[in-house]
Amino acid sequence: MSEISDKVQTLVPDYVRSLQVYQAGKPIEELTRERGVKKVSKLASNENPLGPSPYAIREMTNALWDVHRYPDMHAHEVKSSLAKMYKLKKENIILGNGSEGIMGYIARAFIQPGHEILTSENTFIGFYIIARSVGAKLKTLPLTTDYRFDVKAIAKAINEKTKVIYICNPNNPTGTYITKTEFDFLMEHVPPHVLVILDEAYFEFAKGKEDYPDSMDYRYDNVITLRTFSKAYGLSGIRIGYGFGHEDLIANLTKVKLPFEPGLIAQKGALGALSDKPHLSRTITNNNRRYEETYEYLKNNKFNPVRSVANFICFKTGSEAASMYLFDKLLDHGVIIRMLKANEMPEYVRVSLGTKNEMRHFFRAMDAVLPEYNKRFGRPV
Ligand SMILES: Cc1ncc(COP(=O)(O)O)c(C=O)c1O
Repeated sequence: MSEISDKVQTLVPDYVRSLQVYQAGKPIEELTRERGVKKVSKLASNENPLGPSPYAIREMTNALWDVHRYPDMHAHEVKSSLAKMYKLKKENIILGNGSEGIMGYIARAFIQPGHEILTSENTFIGFYIIARSVGAKLKTLPLTTDYRFDVKAIAKAINEKTKVIYICNPNNPTGTYITKTEFDFLMEHVPPHVLVILDEAYFEFAKGKEDYPDSMDYRYDNVITLRTFSKAYGLSGIRIGYGFGHEDLIANLTKVKLPFEPGLIAQKGALGALSDKPHLSRTITNNNRRYEETYEYLKNNKFNPVRSVANFICFKTGSEAASMYLFDKLLDHGVIIRMLKANEMPEYVRVSLGTKNEMRHFFRAMDAVLPEYNKRFGRPV
């Protein structure tokens, strides 16, 4: 290492130096370039396969003429829309560059080096990175045997050093959820000095499932709910997410927030998306249909898929080598799925639910790959 980079290294705290860069799903252009495939189905990042709402596109296009101006730093229009929709005050709402942006504000406002954060293993890695980036100590507990957050174990692990509890509901990458009863149990055990982050990035898909706790039905001063326009609303590329919480929590997050996040185009896109209920219901209908077909397909091929209430399904390959083989061979057919090594589930993979055509593409590619895969990994046919 050169003298200069040695010096740079000493500037970087250990807890930053030891971080791993977030691994995103493989981009479509990269696959086309690398393998020369013409048709690509990206089923790796839980995006909306139907695309954004045309209303969102119209709002964003119109707003392009105003990008020489800074956006409204209080995002009055989006907050008013959300406040009306959820019967809240604007003071209970914060917006950010994606829900991850808001996780960053939470880290900045509430977490200091050495603080303890309780969460699960095998959950959203973006949160681990953010928590570690401010020097927090992550205490992760195993999922239950049916791949769900273990609220009993989390409640038991709370101590006076615990600062934050992160619950991902539904959980990415397993698609499972904690029930109302489990949420009530957890909250009975959480002392007021602990902040609970409820990450509901996949809320729109899970809403209405029996026993799913919609966090808007609860009012706890120490709970912040995070939701996003990236998934069901089809705006991942624009970066806008929102959080709900007690007005004092929100006021303090607002102090550390970068003033002009999210940008003008993101705010306008969100407004358009919120006004298009039919697009949202088409998205949910497509997801429900694709879920049934894909679950059946995986079950028929003896993969033991995990029951999911989100827009993806996680299934067991049995080993890291098998996951890598499947991932790689599907790429040859133009299908991108997600390996879960970074989530410490190397013997599983995850497939996002796409359009009908994309899932046909996935099934055809699997049909082509499975005979050799089954032979190599000694699976029953
Ligand atoms: C559970 C969970 N939370 C948050 C995010 C990030 O969402 P956003 O695009 O709003 O930052 C994701 C994205 O994959 C996710 O799976």
